[in-house]
Amino acid sequence: MSLPVPQETASQEAARSLLTALTGHAPAGLWSAPGRVNLIGEHTDYNEGFVLPFAIPHRTVAAVGLRDDARIRVASTFTDEQIEVGLDELDRLFPTATGSEPAVPEWAAYPLGVAWALQQATRSTGSGNGFSGIDIAIASDVPVGAGLSSSAAIEGATASALNDLWNTGLDRAALARIGRRAENEAVGAPTGIMDQMASMLGEPDAAIFLDCRSLEANLVPVGVAQAGLAILVMDTRVQHAHSTGGYRDRRAACERGAAIMGVPSLRDVSVADLDRAATLMDDVTFRRVRHIVTENQRVLDTVRMLREHGARAIGDLLVASHASMRDDFEISVPELDTAVASALAAGAIGARMTGGGFGGAAIALVEQDAVADVADAVRAAFAASGFTEPHLFTVTPSAGAHRDA
Ligand code: GLA
Repeated sequence: MSLPVPQETASQEAARSLLTALTGHAPAGLWSAPGRVNLIGEHTDYNEGFVLPFAIPHRTVAAVGLRDDARIRVASTFTDEQIEVGLDELDRLFPTATGSEPAVPEWAAYPLGVAWALQQATRSTGSGNGFSGIDIAIASDVPVGAGLSSSAAIEGATASALNDLWNTGLDRAALARIGRRAENEAVGAPTGIMDQMASMLGEPDAAIFLDCRSLEANLVPVGVAQAGLAILVMDTRVQHAHSTGGYRDRRAACERGAAIMGVPSLRDVSVADLDRAATLMDDVTFRRVRHIVTENQRVLDTVRMLREHGARAIGDLLVASHASMRDDFEISVPELDTAVASALAAGAIGARMTGGGFGGAAIALVEQDAVADVADAVRAAFAASGFTEPHLFTVTPSAGAHRDA
């Protein structure tokens, strides 16, 4: 009699089949990590401020096999291309200078960058059992380019797999830093730590309240379902990329603002300092600063509201956050504004764009029994504006990275 085999998800199945086709062997294991939605706290992470993301049910799966040579090969269901290099070549390929093209195709720079950063970290601590050769096959249902951190999901799945197979013994926060290093130095995108921390530390029904200066992380129950609510993701299908222009430019403006204020980062500027800030800098820099400073305060207020009054109480904070990103930080696009405005007009309790901006997705906090009506209203507003039909789906806060099999 054979034991029942647990049902695999489509991504697990796809990653396992791809690895088996590639190597002729079953994988040594399957690891996965999720994308994320940021509830509030945008562009605050690289300003050493506060963020409140949660992991979503959509996951990237890495099926991994060991090789008997010292090479690493990556393949993915996104492409027919495979990239194979010697483990000793990774130091020659990376780092990639910020803003320049990665040394390998971008999709492969995520997993190979993780392998490189993990080797570097391990060399400096002397941990690990040596680096055996590795084959990695990646499959994912995290939408790409939607601002839901498909890249952090690849990094998290790969880092978890290599940490186990190479016995490097890093904890989840250290693996998040490995993922961020891959993103910054192998892909060349100057992002913060939020996405990787969310993907590594996520827990069901909780958001991660992260202090991006100390990296102290506390789970905050979101209680959306208990409140009779749902979180609707509205993917505008306007693709964004963080390795390009706008994100870097906003980051530079924040650094300029902090320098003018004479502080190491905008974390050290409070709402009470804003009047003085306005007299010291040009209008654009001031508005960038004001977004970060008020957004940090909104994260703290949202955490307090969730703890004291529950999810129903945070709607106005989400709306204020969106307005600040649209008017002060100027990272919204008409599709995101339309998604937010039409969801609110159809009765959403709160709504805001989520992630880096310049495209991607917005979220709306909606009564469970109003999800279909709000979704219809958003679709109708997109059609009326001549925009591409959005992808609409609900998410619940979910588990972070783990070994699946
Ligand atoms: C992207 C980056 C994050 C963060 C957000 C904006 O998702 O990867 O580090 O800066 O944008 O909050």
